[in-house]
This record gives sequence, structure tokens and C-alpha cells, in this order.
Amino acid sequence: MGRNNSRNIQAKLVLLGDMGTGKTSLVLRYIKGQFHDFQESTIGAAFFTQVVPLETMAVKFDIWDTAGQERYHSLAPMYYRGAAAAVVIYDITSTDSFARAKQWVEEVRRQGTPNLVMFIVGNKADLEAKRKVGTEDAEQYARENEMGFLEASAKTAQNVNELFYEIAKRVATANPRRNKGVELRARPEQRGMRFCCS
Ligand code: GTP
Ligand code: MG
Repeated sequence: MGRNNSRNIQAKLVLLGDMGTGKTSLVLRYIKGQFHDFQESTIGAAFFTQVVPLETMAVKFDIWDTAGQERYHSLAPMYYRGAAAAVVIYDITSTDSFARAKQWVEEVRRQGTPNLVMFIVGNKADLEAKRKVGTEDAEQYARENEMGFLEASAKTAQNVNELFYEIAKRVATANPRRNKGVELRARPEQRGMRFCCS
């Protein structure tokens, strides 16, 4: 978390979840208002920034969209380390992806930042006919694990703005007056490869 002036905070946000759950699609929907039926699988990770204006301040998110393919798993700590917020995505049509999401939650709880704002998000809510993960099951899991929960659709944009807005509000509340704290951010020349304290 950094603070460029009294009204803005900079926060690292990481998206985690099984491959194909729609992490990249959610970010592209949010930032560019786009959706692609054939979104390419992410290699390594992708980086985006977005400013979320709140009533009296703004949160600037540095968003790391990680690759869900298992061979990239070992890279994940670089992205969730120092993160102010983690969004764990599953696909409501896949029970495997929900099980994987729970593993991500446990890993981030073990190794991530204390006081991290965490959300679990059931994406592809437009595919109601193919649903395999019940809303109530996920809701209960989120409640027991003290994290936020939403169902969303990158395709229809359902709950996409709401998700990032809600996270920004919670990040702002969780970090009310922290001056400098520890700010972990990527060196531009080695983006995604190494983090360093500034
Ligand atoms: P990795 O980068 O491999 O980890 O995958 P990802 O989680 O980034 O998934 P991605 O955004 O690439 O989406 C995977 C596929 O699901 C793509 O073909 C998308 O078009 C599709 N998809 C993503 N979100 C939705 C959604 O909300 N509804 C529907 N119907 N399809 C979606
Ligand atoms: Mg992706």
C-alpha cells in the first residue's frame, strides 16, 4: 500500500484461480468493457492498473492477473505477496474449480499479507443451466472464512464493477491512515519477476 497524497492509496490486487475460470475476462470486462469468447490462456501473469474513485478518496489498483495453469503455480507467491487484496475466482459450472479456489484461499491465508481483503467470486453466472456450484455453498464458505463473495459474469458484466468497487472500499477501510507501511511493487524493468521494497 502506498499513498501518493492524503486522498489516494495504491494497492496491489491479485487474481487467482484455476485456468479457464475467467480471471482475464473479468479484468478486461472491468477495464476495457470488452469480452472475448475465445480469450487466450494467460502466460505467467498480466499486469493492469485501474483507479477506483470512492466518495472521498481514490484507490489505484495494481492488478496482477495470474495464469491458472498448474505449471505456473510456483510463480504465484510473487503476485500475492504484499497484496492488499486477493480475488479468488471459480467457475460456477465446475466443482473442480471451486475446490481449487478453496486451496488458493488456504495458501494465501498461510502465506499472504495479514489483513488482506479477500473475495471469492463465482464467475460465468450467465451459464445458469450448467451450474454445478450452489450459490449457498459458496456463500457459506465465504462467511465461515470471513471473506467477500459475489457471483459475476464477465460475459454479461453482472457484478463486475460492483466487485472492484467493493474491494476498493474494503481496502480503503482496512488501511485508514497508514502512512508508508511496506510497499511491495514490481521493478518496471523486471515486471512480474521480482519485488522490492521502496
Ligand atoms: P487462465 O489465463 O488460463 O488462467 O484462464 P482465465 O482464468 O484467465 O480465463 P479466461 O478469462 O481466459 O476465460 C476462459 C474462457 O472462459 C474464455 O473462453 C472466456 O470467453 C470464457 N469466459 C470467461 N468469463 C466468462 C463468463 O462470465 N461467461 C461465459 N459464458 N464465459 C466466460
Ligand atoms: Mg487468464
